[in-house]
Amino acid sequence: MSKVMNHRYKADPQESYTLPSHFYTSEDILNKEKEEIFYKNWIFAGHAEKVDVPGKYFTFQVFDQNIMIIRGKDDIIRAFYNVCPHRGHELVEGEGKKAVISCPYHAWTFHLDGQFNQGRAVDQIKNFEQKEACLTPVNIEVFLNFIFINLDPNAKPIREMMPSLEETIRTKIPEVENLTLAKRIRYDIKGNWKNVIDNYLECHHCQVAHPEFVKQIDMSSYQINPQEYYIAQTSRGKGSCSIPGDLDMASDETYLSLWLWPTLALDIMPGEPGIIIMYIEPVSPEESIEYLEFYFMSKEPTEEGWESIKYQDEVLTPEDISLVESVQRGLRSKGYTDGRYVIDKEKSSISEHGVHHFHGLVLNALEGVRTS
Ligand code: FES
Ligand SMILES: [Fe+2]
Repeated sequence: MSKVMNHRYKADPQESYTLPSHFYTSEDILNKEKEEIFYKNWIFAGHAEKVDVPGKYFTFQVFDQNIMIIRGKDDIIRAFYNVCPHRGHELVEGEGKKAVISCPYHAWTFHLDGQFNQGRAVDQIKNFEQKEACLTPVNIEVFLNFIFINLDPNAKPIREMMPSLEETIRTKIPEVENLTLAKRIRYDIKGNWKNVIDNYLECHHCQVAHPEFVKQIDMSSYQINPQEYYIAQTSRGKGSCSIPGDLDMASDETYLSLWLWPTLALDIMPGEPGIIIMYIEPVSPEESIEYLEFYFMSKEPTEEGWESIKYQDEVLTPEDISLVESVQRGLRSKGYTDGRYVIDKEKSSISEHGVHHFHGLVLNALEGVRTS
């Protein structure tokens, strides 16, 4: 493992090299990321509306770990490992509603809060402790009605890790809890998950690759501001332009994008209140799934909302996926090992300091450096 961790990254972005190419292709690195990043950080699982009444549940996978998210009779949303404490059968599948959780193998039952209920002849088990037969909880945080889970029981809450995040979102959408999912789209990408995030965290490529996007954005106002565990990208709209599928930005309104360590991004467009959520699920070192979820105040978006979905789905996302997949092929080239970051001290659109910040978080996690 030690050799696989070789890199020329430095804390000073102007002296640093990027993460080397094998970080984007190696099975060993992905396995280490699974343990040190995905099993120890807040992973977006879905919106609380999926479990809107007691008994409603859905399952969610973090690599090989199957998690059940369920609302209790007391209205509290909890997460458990989806495994029976008897002999390890999975308890529930997909999504649905239960009055009681009943294991399909030998029919042990559990209350919605994970407490053991009953099992045939368990009274004959010597020293049987009911508390040893409860479901194993998983750390959960419902943040603005978005559900996050963390397999690390000692993880810092999101609100502590990202202290100014709620206020930043609320300034744009005061009634953010009222958003509802209108559309979800899945993209299969031939690229490492970090490659997809790298591309998201800079707009150096926007002038070249996103001609329609830069027509609507005042690129001179574009700013990339890393906080410890999230990165905000903001810019003003250009105002009067009106191209098909445009974002309809008035000049005084701002576009806000927030990336949250490790794999989630929220885009808040001016105009109709809404959030576009993007999250990445690693499949293998060189394959990922990207999900886009469009949240508006109503399940039936306005025409403006549909335009925004169409633009993301037909223009912006295909443009980015094509870049990411070309980079992935390049990362396998014998002619490339690592590169340099273009850094602008003004944190403008041409600067890649956001990517450097992200790479620092990846290395801290893999090298076991605790920054908090
Ligand atoms: S494994 Fe669940 S009741 Fe036996
Ligand atoms: Fe892009």
